[in-house]
Amino acid sequence: LVLILDYGSQYTHLITRRIRQLSVLSLCISGTAPLSAITALSPKAVILSGGPHSVHLPSAPSFPDGFLSYVQENGVHVLGICYGMQLLVQKLGGVVDVGEKQEYGKMEIEVQKESALYAADEVGGHQTVWMSHGDEAVKLPPGFEVVARSTQGAVAGIEDRKRHFYGLQYHPEVTHSTKGMETLHRFLFDVCGLSADWKMQDVLEEEIKTIHSMVGPNDHVICALSGGVDSTVAATLVHKAIGDRLHCVFVDNGLLRYKERERVMSTFESDLHLPVTCIDASEQFLTALKDKEDPEMKRKIIGREFIAVFDDFARNLEKQLGKRPEFLVQGTLYPDVIESCPPPGSGRTHSHTIKSHHNVGGLPKDMKLKLIEPLKLLFKDEVRKLGSILNVPESFLKRHPFPGPGLAVRVIGDVTKGDALDTLRQADEIFVQAIKDAGLYDEIWQAFAVFPSVASIGVQGDQRTHAYVVALRAITSEDGMTADWYYFDHKFLIAVSNKITNSVKAVNRVVLDITSKPPATVEWE
Ligand code: XMP
Repeated sequence: LVLILDYGSQYTHLITRRIRQLSVLSLCISGTAPLSAITALSPKAVILSGGPHSVHLPSAPSFPDGFLSYVQENGVHVLGICYGMQLLVQKLGGVVDVGEKQEYGKMEIEVQKESALYAADEVGGHQTVWMSHGDEAVKLPPGFEVVARSTQGAVAGIEDRKRHFYGLQYHPEVTHSTKGMETLHRFLFDVCGLSADWKMQDVLEEEIKTIHSMVGPNDHVICALSGGVDSTVAATLVHKAIGDRLHCVFVDNGLLRYKERERVMSTFESDLHLPVTCIDASEQFLTALKDKEDPEMKRKIIGREFIAVFDDFARNLEKQLGKRPEFLVQGTLYPDVIESCPPPGSGRTHSHTIKSHHNVGGLPKDMKLKLIEPLKLLFKDEVRKLGSILNVPESFLKRHPFPGPGLAVRVIGDVTKGDALDTLRQADEIFVQAIKDAGLYDEIWQAFAVFPSVASIGVQGDQRTHAYVVALRAITSEDGMTADWYYFDHKFLIAVSNKITNSVKAVNRVVLDITSKPPATVEWE
């Protein structure tokens, strides 16, 4: 296991992913977690992430007391990246100062020595790397040597092989660092002696074991299926573990896409052979959402109503089974967990939580069901791999993600106002169908229409109209944590815009969202 201590860099999750791509399990916890949280995981290696702080600030986040002796006593290898390297230098008795020149973006480094991190044939060679730092190490702690420098002269790579400490001033995890993966590969396998043995099959077996240890032989479990990748894979996995003691429910919350209920129900039955009860709770959700404008409030209400529906479903099952189901399966993924628990030093605190994803942050405190979250350590692409081991059909695995709160996060403000939801459904269907017809669905991470609840003046058939604006959003992404907007061909956009304004009565204007994440989020609310 490689443990990443997070000091708030925007690339921390990328380090976690890169290491997993090399078939080594990596987990990420807060950089200020107590020593017991670190020792409990018995990591073979620890990576200290980058972060936005300067080590000189009194509030600069740091590893706990006792960390340095723990790693030395246990032969744990420590790699500091950027802020993590500076922290290591400072705490071990070196000096970090404001650099003469700040280095941001693509830079060159020169490898100066054969070392743990660089092979002999790399010595004297240059590598393009991604830097982002103001401070730099000006005096190394005893036992350390410089193994690479930036062409501007700053220390870029250091090591103390005897004590197993290593540092990189640049970000090897970013693709712009052309040899970054090779360096991480050397660190994991040659330096730390780890083996590439983290496989999806093992994850599956581990999760089944965990479910068996949580759920007794007479316990029953319920699962809300949305028809998306996550809940479908989670349900299939739990079904494999406990068979028909899993009871699935599909809730029509009135916030689904065009014909989604019919489509999803028929696929569950024919492809997945999972018994699913369909509950129409649309009135209940829409009544609770009436006149509600605030995005966080809407999410909380939806979370609350979902739980109320599940509680009801469980009560009904209790009557049938003579025993109340005690567990609820959720398809929570690792990015949801990371985004809902921002690390200290990230500039985000709990009060700055970007959004409370309803399957993590928005659950009511008095919820009576215990959670089973078999995917909570996985990224989306890993869930897809797990799904294919479980024989979940490709059509499911390739579906674009759809948020738990559904169209409520795509209608700005009050979702119940006028015909907002229906208008959005029609425009969304045209857009997504056009993407499928053009063969673009698989290269786009997520595509959907948004209803900004704004009316504009138009002219249709020589008539002045005052009708709604629809926005189109399509993004590419690796894991939903960062995203870029998708560059459509103009002809495609013209055709979609025409089709929407010609066939969706309430719409007279179509706009395209050309914002990446950050600064925007994927969803509008
Ligand atoms: P944001 O909008 O936070 O979205 O950039 C990142 C990814 O997460 C999805 N999303 C959600 N998924 N419950 C979910 O299950 C939610 O509350 C939620 N909010 C956003 C979003 O569609 C995108 O894929």
